[in-house]
Amino acid sequence: MQKVALVTGGTRGIGAAISKNLKSAGYMVAAIYQGNHHAADAFQKQTEIAIYKWDVSDFKACEVGLRQVTKDLGPIDILVNNAGITKDGALHKMASKQWEDVIQTNLTSCFNMCRHVIEPMRERGFGRIINISSINGQKGQFGQTNYSAAKAGMVGLTKSLAQESAAKGITVNAIAPGYVNTEMVQAMPEGILAHITSQIPLGRLGTPEEVASAVRFLASEEAGFMTGATLTLNGGQYSA
Ligand code: CAA
Repeated sequence: MQKVALVTGGTRGIGAAISKNLKSAGYMVAAIYQGNHHAADAFQKQTEIAIYKWDVSDFKACEVGLRQVTKDLGPIDILVNNAGITKDGALHKMASKQWEDVIQTNLTSCFNMCRHVIEPMRERGFGRIINISSINGQKGQFGQTNYSAAKAGMVGLTKSLAQESAAKGITVNAIAPGYVNTEMVQAMPEGILAHITSQIPLGRLGTPEEVASAVRFLASEEAGFMTGATLTLNGGQYSA
């Protein structure tokens, strides 16, 4: 039977590449988005992947949204927690809202989504949860105390949930991409982006498709012995 994969932040950037890759691998895919309806609509028309709109930082919205996806496509076999935002700034200038927004959207969303899918996965004895962390959760980054804390938190959540879920046939892994060519990275000040790119031994940004390939592997049956791990893809910029 066709497995169901759900990708948060699944209509743009790395998430869009993941949604498309999983569709091409034969999964039935649901791509979740929150803000950019225009981009989501274009994505849906281009890919014919089902799109759903809700705020993954809202526990109740996740419950309602997941109920609808399950009704339409069936229970979730593969959950990819990819949705994320940046609100960069040095901590001494950071407003508490900048902190809260990033923690809620990038980290609490993982709890919200996992909490609602984990029981059905446990009952069915199968599941794949893949959390998209970041190089900056591993090494820290000037101007990203909020983002780095959230992304490091995802790794801790991954390791703990992997231990809790292993006996039920569910694997939980993280991917830590480095700087990938997306709107988020292109929005950085030009000089800073050039400086960061110069620190990448491979001499270029990653592509969303390269991250999507790693997700495809972790979602597959072949990755069944891998759990609690963090796959690093960063062009050699940092060894965790
Ligand atoms: N390292 C060391 N010092 C730095 C620095 C850095 N990376 N960046 C700035 N500084 C220094 C400046 O030289 C300056 O020093 P002086 O006062 O002595 O001149 C001081 O810090 C203040 O600099 P700014 O005026 O530029 O500070 P700011 O508050 O206006 O801007 C910032 C700071 C917004 C955080 C900016 O540095 C920035 O955008 N940094 C990039 C953060 C980043 O990497 N974001 C990644 C986004 S993509 C992503 O997150 C995806 C992913 O997973 C990888």
